[in-house]
This record gives sequence, structure tokens and C-alpha cells, in this order.
Amino acid sequence: MKKYSPTTLSAQCLLLFLLSYQLHLSTASENAQSKSYIVYMGERKHSDPSLVVDSHHTILATVLGGSKQEAAESIFYSYKHGFSGFAARLTDSQAEMMAEMPDVVDVIPNDLVKLHTTRSWDYLGLSSSHAASNLLTESNMGDKAIIGVIDSGIWPESKSFDDKGMGPIPTRWKGACVGGDQFNSTNCNRKLIGARWFVKGLLEIIKEPINTTAGMEYLSPRDAGGHGTHTSSTAVGSLVHNVSYKGLALGTARGGAPRARLAMYKVCWETDLGDCSSADILKAFDEAIHDGVDVLSVSLGLGVPYLLDVIAVGSLHAVLKGITVVCAAGNDGPTSQTVENVAPWIISVASSTMDRSFPSPITLGNNQTIMGQAMFTGHKEIGFKGLVCPKQSGFNSTCSCDSLFSDNSTMRGKVVLCFGNPYGAPNIVKAAGGVGLIFANYLTFYISPCDDFPCVEVDYDVGAQLLSYIRSSRKPVVKLSPSKTLVGMPLSVKIARSSSRGPSSLSPEILKPDVAAPGVNVLAAISPNNIDAYDGYAFKSGTSMACPHVAGIVGLLKSLNPSWSPAAIRSALTTTASTTDTSGEPIFIIGDAQKLAGPFDFGGGIVNPSRASDPGLIYDMGVTDYVHYLCSMAYNDFAISKLTQHPFVCPSKKPSILNLNLPSITVPSLRSSATITRTVTNFGPIDSTYVASIEHPLGVKVAVRPQMLVFNSTVKKLSFTITLSSSHKTIGGYYIGSLSWSDGIHKVTSPISVRTEIIPSYTDRF
Ligand SMILES: *[C@@H]1O[C@H](CO)[C@@H](O)[C@H](O)[C@H]1NC(C)=O
Ligand SMILES: *[C@@H]1O[C@H](CO)[C@@H](O)[C@H](O)[C@H]1NC(C)=O
Ligand SMILES: *[C@@H]1O[C@H](CO)[C@@H](O)[C@H](O)[C@H]1NC(C)=O
Ligand SMILES: *[C@@H]1O[C@H](CO)[C@@H](O)[C@H](O)[C@H]1NC(C)=O
Ligand SMILES: *[C@@H]1O[C@H](CO)[C@@H](O)[C@H](O)[C@H]1NC(C)=O
Ligand SMILES: *[C@@H]1O[C@H](CO)[C@@H](O)[C@H](O)[C@H]1NC(C)=O
Ligand SMILES: *[C@@H]1O[C@H](CO)[C@@H](O)[C@H](O)[C@H]1NC(C)=O
Repeated sequence: MKKYSPTTLSAQCLLLFLLSYQLHLSTASENAQSKSYIVYMGERKHSDPSLVVDSHHTILATVLGGSKQEAAESIFYSYKHGFSGFAARLTDSQAEMMAEMPDVVDVIPNDLVKLHTTRSWDYLGLSSSHAASNLLTESNMGDKAIIGVIDSGIWPESKSFDDKGMGPIPTRWKGACVGGDQFNSTNCNRKLIGARWFVKGLLEIIKEPINTTAGMEYLSPRDAGGHGTHTSSTAVGSLVHNVSYKGLALGTARGGAPRARLAMYKVCWETDLGDCSSADILKAFDEAIHDGVDVLSVSLGLGVPYLLDVIAVGSLHAVLKGITVVCAAGNDGPTSQTVENVAPWIISVASSTMDRSFPSPITLGNNQTIMGQAMFTGHKEIGFKGLVCPKQSGFNSTCSCDSLFSDNSTMRGKVVLCFGNPYGAPNIVKAAGGVGLIFANYLTFYISPCDDFPCVEVDYDVGAQLLSYIRSSRKPVVKLSPSKTLVGMPLSVKIARSSSRGPSSLSPEILKPDVAAPGVNVLAAISPNNIDAYDGYAFKSGTSMACPHVAGIVGLLKSLNPSWSPAAIRSALTTTASTTDTSGEPIFIIGDAQKLAGPFDFGGGIVNPSRASDPGLIYDMGVTDYVHYLCSMAYNDFAISKLTQHPFVCPSKKPSILNLNLPSITVPSLRSSATITRTVTNFGPIDSTYVASIEHPLGVKVAVRPQMLVFNSTVKKLSFTITLSSSHKTIGGYYIGSLSWSDGIHKVTSPISVRTEIIPSYTDRF
């Protein structure tokens, strides 16, 4: 079905090709008639949208063997602004015929897609209180930027979207405020300047109406679930003072670019069957490109690594038009190769903690006090209560949280201790008359509020201490006290356990994720009917929350430097990111006391907005680089020329992805040695001299030529080579190092990750 020639495919691509083909076949037999597909046709041939739409009707009529009228009826979206294509109801054989049509780049099934504060900005060094001279003030809080968010909608009445003090809407804005259930154009203002909603693709799949009973969902941009409100306010929320969750995390809530404009593209819905559909997501990209956003924040993931999925396609066209696209890396960590949104034109964001925690004292009957983590906001001391743990039940061992589900006999009036995954446990304990829960886990810090019911998380060794107290005491008792907010040292910053990890399974030479940003216990605006809402704000965690932090920062950078390309912005963020926390201590991974975070956990590191605004040197990229990437991924000339509407021929020798001008160096299979080229552009003072310094990966020699780069008024761009040679004797894991260019003021750092391949062909030995 895909327009690849199997003979030119790498083994990996071939496997994906076969898997997706089989998927098509099996689902086809279940439902031969009414499926929906996206027919993607690349860059537009006409600038007039009505001519683009007409070309869709013509091509589909040919395949249906009918009239253009008939074709128009089976099309439910025409993509006509940012690129050309349509979504339509087709049978599988019609879809296969469509894929063979000369103007068609790819036919993509319309599938379901999953949705993946106050303190975070101070942590990132962008506090508005010490307002001396930082990116926030220099960029006037991002007032020139328009940030589009593709998500679950918006709660427009939230204080975070107040437009007080904002100037008129930029005249270049071509968007609209599209109404519907409990939402009309008066809900937009000078902050929320656009809102659109897309549901046709989802309805094609779930084949039942959206349940709008009692505010469960709104057929409009209004956000029922709260995810989109949270991500939007994290990216662009206006300053709102005195925000807290019941006193915890008290401070001023705001987004990364508090004066940037917001446009919401609602594609995700509260339904039992799924969240969002690929046809709707692609339509959001099409309209956002038309409307004139500068940045797109996309906290969504497709799960399966596929070269040109709808997020990759939509963002390619956005990036080619100068729009920076920031995506969540996914929440499938700590397993490696789980990272999503891996295309080289996307900024993919991992999630970290910040230096804020909520310690909650646990006092034992012997007066010993130990610390857990909770969002226990009850103000009444509940005094000493009995401490128990669930009895063994079936295959679940004593004290495991799972045993709670079958043994709830001894909890009444007691605090319950359990080990493992606590999901669902608070409700069981509450229902059985328990007065508190302590659960031992690897410290996730993913503590969630259980209202006034104390749910305290402790590390396994604290859990073990509590258990030995229970076993050694005749009448074990415990007292739980309300949580406090602790900020700053001595807390170290860690990468979230669930943040998806590299390397990319699709193209391991491209380092993903690109950077990390706070995404654990982020307090931001929410829909008031969300179960966790308190006074319009709630804590949420995930790379979905980290992504809009970076989108906000990109808004600031764009406001300050409107001409920076999406690749320049990505380079600035990656090469200046921090690999240590603010006190200079290294960054670890949650739940792993021995493992330092590395490039596959956090890319270049945790974003450092102020340093990113003055990066010194930039690894830039443009359409030629992206096209070379597609050539190296065995995409054919013909399809590529469609993507850009310029004739393009891939070089007869496949270009090496290693030479893609990325701000990082990742070599997944180094034979004996490899030489890689990079080009840097001077974004700093005109006359500058940069000198290379290298941290060698263990057992790998790295040589840079030249070792000095001299820029002046005529020399703005310089290339250099990096030669890597390995002395390893076995195929192991990745060894990590770095290359830094410095002029004494700027430090432009690229992470290096190298894995040695020993035997030319492993299969030759058998
Ligand atoms: C928009 O909604 C508000 C209240 O929700 C209502 O007062 C107003 O008349 C509506 N405006 C339009 C143009 O429908
Ligand atoms: C819609 O949701 C309400 C509230 O949960 C429920 O009572 C009702 O049965 C649902 N309707 C349908 C058609 O599923
Ligand atoms: C802050 O908000 C709380 C309620 O959330 C309120 O009781 C308090 O008076 C507010 N303080 C200020 C200074 O506005
Ligand atoms: C615990 O401390 C309290 C006062 O802080 C004291 O009255 C009590 O005797 C102590 N209990 C034990 C077992 O030491
Ligand atoms: C073990 O715990 C699970 C809950 O995760 C429960 O569904 C299952 O029934 C329990 N097994 C036994 C044998 O009790
Ligand atoms: C807990 O125990 C009660 C009886 O005390 C029983 O009715 C209930 O189903 C139990 N709950 C669970 C979740 O096992
Ligand atoms: C810049 O440097 C290049 C190469 O070193 C040199 O040829 C050129 O004359 C210099 N230009 C100026 C204006 O100094």
C-alpha cells in the first residue's frame, strides 16, 4: 500500500512495511466497507485552495469510477492550506488503487491516537521576580509570538487566559474563533485569538455520537477533560497570583510566554473508545499553517514508529513554512527505544522533576519520624492510628498493594501500608473505612492528591523500615501529618521514570528526545469539572506537560529573533541545555539511584532558556537536509519531489544520516572508524574564535578538524569533521561523550553517543 519499492528498503523499514501491511489485511477482513483513509499528496500544486479541493475531487472520481459529486460526498476533509490531500471513506481496494495514483505520496489509515505551574519557571531561571535581564523581559514575555496548541480544547474563562494589558491581535493572524456547544466568538479575546475543533475523523472510527450528557464533552473548542487547558496555560498562561493546590505549591501561575497569543485546535475528545484521530490531527496542522501560528505544541503520540505518520507529515509542512513544532516524547519509559515523534524536524521533549517536593512526615509509635511524599492537604492532625498491611491473597504476597483488592477486612480505622503499584488502592482503603495509605514504590514523585485522605509515597527502603516496625511491635501505630512544600536545594532534579527513552527505533542516528523540561507535578489551569481541579488549577504529570514548557520558551525565542529557523531554535535549545542541576550536581533517573541521565534520557539536557537565547553557534537545517534524510530512509525521488513541489533526485549513493546537520552526534554502529561532517553558523559576535574540546566516550577516540573556527564579517559559516575510532572488542551498549565549541563566553555542546559494531555481518558466522 505504501509507495516504497521493497528492494530499496532497509530491513527495518521492510519489517515495518510488512507489519503495517498485515495490519491492513486483518482489519480489512473485519470491516471491508466503511473505513476511512488519509490520502496525502504532498505540497500544494495550486495556491488557490478551491483548485486544490477540485483536484481532490477529480483524482478520487477516477478511482471510484464515478462523478466528482460522488467523490465530494465520500471526502470528509480536504487538506488544502498547508499541504494537499484529503480524508475520505474508502474500501481497502479503493485505498490501494489510490496509493498507485501518480499524484499520491502515501495513503495512511485514519487511526486512533492517544493523548499522551507555579514553580517550574523559577527552576528554569526565568523567574519574573528577579527580573534583571533575562529572556522573559528581553522578549517582553513573548508578546510577538502566536502559539498553536493541538489538544483537547480550552476552558476560556480560566484566569490564565485573561487578556488584560494585551495589545490588539496581530494583523497577520488569519485564524478564527469557531463556536459550538457553550462556546462562541465572545469566548475568544486578545489572549485566546483562535479556536477550532475537529471531530469528523474520530466519528468515522468510533461510529457513535459523542456523549455530551452533563458536560462530559462539548461539541466545540470547550475542554471537558482539562488536558488542553493545562498544556495551553503552561505554554502561554497569563500571570495569575496566589495560585496553589489547597495551599501546596503556592505562587504565581504563568505560562512560558505569558504575553504570547494562543490558538487552540481541539482534536482530542472524552470518549470510551479513544482520544483523537489521525485525520483530525492532520486537519489541525492544515488549518494552523493557514492561520499563521509561529509555534505548535503537540502533546500527542502515535505509538508506532512510522516514517511519515500524520504528526511527521503535518509538522514537516509546518517546519518548511518556518513554524517550530514541539512534541511530547511519550510516557513509555524507562524502556529504551520508546521515544515518539522522532522526525529530525520535530523538537521532542522528555520530562524531568523540578526542585520542588511535598514532604509528608510519618511518625511511628516509637516517636521516630520518617519522610514520605504526598499531596496531603488535610489540616486536621488525625493522631496515632493502627498500622496494618494487607494479608496474602491468592498469588499476591502479603503487603502487596494488589492484595488489597481481595483483603479489606482489617482496614477499618487503620492506616494501611502496601508495596507496589498503588493504582486504585486509595479508593479501596477509603471504602473499607481505612484512614490513610502509605505505599512503597520506587519514588516516582507522581503523587496525586487524594483529597483530604492521606496517600503517602515512600521509597522501598522506608517501606521495609515500616514493615519491620509492624512486625516487631505488638501494637504498631503511626501518625500522618499534612504535606509541606519544599523548594530549592537540597533536592536534586531527576528524569521522570515514565518519560520515553531513545534511541529512536526508526533512525537511531538522530538523537531523540532532543531536550527535557519539567513535567512532574506541574500545577496549571484546568477545566473546573476535572476531578483533580481545585480553584481552577490542578497538578498533572507527563511529557504532555513538559512539551508546552518548551513551546513557551520557543515563543520567547521567536519574539526576540523572528528570523530563527525551527532547526536553529532546536540547535540553540539542545547545545545550551544543562546536564547538571542548578547547584551543579548531576541529573539522575527516578527510581535508579546509580544511573546518571544521558542523551537517550534527556537529549542535550534540561532546557536553559536564558542560555538558549544566546547560543553562539547554530547547527542549522533546511529543506535540503530534510530531503536528504528522506532519501537516506529509502523514500523515493518521486514522492520527495511531491513533498516540496520541486523536482528532486536522490543521489545514487544513499546519503549518510550521520551527516545530517544535527546538534548531536549519534553513531549506532561504528565499524572501526567513521568521519562525520557538521556545519556551524555564527549567531554571536561577528569576530569570534571558537576552540573545540572533547569528552571522549570510553574506548572511543574522537578527533575534530579543524580544532579552531575563526569567524569574521565574511565568514559566517564553517564546516568541520569529527573522526571517531573505537577500540572496543565486543558489541556493547552506547558510550557517551561530548564535543563543545567555546569562544570563552559561549559553550556550544553536542552530546556524542557511540556503539561499536565488531563483525561486518553477524550472520556470516553461522
Ligand atoms: C455567546 O454566548 C454568550 C453567553 O454564553 C451570550 O451571552 C452571547 O449572546 C453569545 N453571543 C453570540 C453572538 O451568540
Ligand atoms: C452518557 O453519559 C451519561 C453519564 O455518564 C450516561 O448516564 C449515559 O448513559 C451516556 N449515554 C450514552 C448514550 O452512552
Ligand atoms: C489567596 O487565595 C486564598 C484562597 O485560595 C485566599 O484565602 C487568600 O485570601 C488569597 N490571598 C491573597 C493575598 O489574595
Ligand atoms: C513520644 O514523645 C512524646 C512527647 O513528644 C512523649 O510523651 C512520649 O512518651 C514519647 N513516646 C515514646 C515511646 O518515646
Ligand atoms: C492479585 O491482585 C490483582 C489486582 O491487581 C487481583 O485482580 C487479583 O485477583 C489478585 N489475585 C489473587 C489470587 O488474589
Ligand atoms: C470490602 O469489604 C466489604 C465488606 O466489609 C465488601 O462488601 C466489599 O465488597 C469489599 N470491597 C472490596 C473492593 O473488596
Ligand atoms: C575573514 O577570514 C577569511 C579567512 O581567514 C579571510 O580570507 C578574509 O579576508 C577575512 N575577512 C575579513 C573582512 O577580515
